Amino acid sequence: MKKVIVATKNKGKAKDFETLFHPFGFSVLTLHDVANDMDIEETGETFQENAILKAEALSQRLNMFVIADDSGLIIDALNGAPGVYSARYAGESKSDEANMDKVLEELSNIDDPGRTARFYCAIALAGPDFETKTVYGTCEGVIAKEKKGTNGFGYDPIFYVPQLGKMMAELSAEEKGSISHRGNAIKKIQAELPNLFK
Ligand code: IMP
Repeated sequence: MKKVIVATKNKGKAKDFETLFHPFGFSVLTLHDVANDMDIEETGETFQENAILKAEALSQRLNMFVIADDSGLIIDALNGAPGVYSARYAGESKSDEANMDKVLEELSNIDDPGRTARFYCAIALAGPDFETKTVYGTCEGVIAKEKKGTNGFGYDPIFYVPQLGKMMAELSAEEKGSISHRGNAIKKIQAELPNLFK
């Protein structure tokens, strides 16, 4: 199988990418496989900046093509928070449960029409003698009043997807990939991948 290198240590993201790349005959290698000692600091102010930072750091180290994803949840009633701070919204422990509890608490006085949100994913593709390319994808939804579902990761149990009438955490990996921010971003570069990852 051909391999795509993804600059992440997040197991949930890695699984999403495996599902997305499998139909094209690719398996996924992550930082755990290729540079376990590497901890890339996300100092950018936007998803794009952080995705580029991660992709270029790993690509320079390996001298190979890599992709990186920087993603998060944008909640309208919270003026776009947690945004680029999604992973550590409730603190440095990066606990999905604590992050969701914080969001539910902050939205506790807000009813349905005001609970709109979207997932955003920026993907950067970097490689030797290659001008780094970025694409993005989004997925519209509504923040539910309580957690439901056990699939996926991060904020999936509180993210309702009106398009499918289910919570993100109730979708199979393939269903999530077909409508997700990550899936929508990958669709924009999938045609280029076979030439870059062999
Ligand atoms: P990053 O590693 O800085 O890109 O952090 C991304 C964070 O955004 C994750 O830790 C999750 O909290 C959240 N996130 C990104 N994509 C998803 C998703 O597909 N489902 C649920 N949460 C997500």
